[in-house]
Amino acid sequence: MIIRTETQADYERVRQLNIEAFGHRNDEAELVERIRQSDGFIPYLSLVAEAEEGMVGHALFSKASIVNEAGSHEVIVLAPIAVAPSHQKQGIGKRLIEEGLTRSRELGYPGVLLIGHPDYYPRLGFQPARTFGLVLKQFQVPDDVFMAIELRENGLRPLQGELRYPAAFGV
Ligand SMILES: CC(C)(COP(=O)(O)OP(=O)(O)OC[C@H]1O[C@@H](n2cnc3c(N)ncnc32)[C@H](O)[C@@H]1OP(=O)(O)O)[C@@H](O)C(=O)NCCC(=O)NCCS
Repeated sequence: MIIRTETQADYERVRQLNIEAFGHRNDEAELVERIRQSDGFIPYLSLVAEAEEGMVGHALFSKASIVNEAGSHEVIVLAPIAVAPSHQKQGIGKRLIEEGLTRSRELGYPGVLLIGHPDYYPRLGFQPARTFGLVLKQFQVPDDVFMAIELRENGLRPLQGELRYPAAFGV
């Protein structure tokens, strides 16, 4: 199994994978398509997991901002991530996330934020975003599902502000 950058030839399979992983709804597949058409899209951070039998996972990391009195700071958000139901719980999600974090760090971003399962992401180093003084106002979600990880020491902590998802996220 390899993790590689998504190409245009993967788009249809990525759409099917997201529909399948999210219980046959297409909200996340459409989110991927809106992000790809937006300024926040970074092709290098759209990752696919490819096994011998074909594509089995996809994760999309894209741009968002933390806004505070001093201005706006670019960060990365993870959404969505999908692993084929037949291939879940084999560490593929973990590998996609680790590769996305490595690449985001390589590009110089200070941190990655997400809304997700509070029992899954902490194993990969994510902490409640409030730990870093970050707030989310665009979506009404419980505190523990809004999570963040710093990509370098004090990458996020000094930013103290509100995460703003771009319009592609339907906000
Ligand atoms: C959430 C999701 C991306 C996780 O992907 P995954 O590849 O199943 O995740 P991992 O394999 O890295 O970890 C999941 C579990 O498998 C376990 N695991 C990891 N590697 C394993 C291995 N080699 N053998 C057995 N178990 C393993 C992990 O410890 C974890 O344990 P848990 O069942 O107690 O939670 C996937 O389940 C999915 O696509 N879900 C539907 C869509 C969704 O909800 N996406 C997230 C919201 S954006």
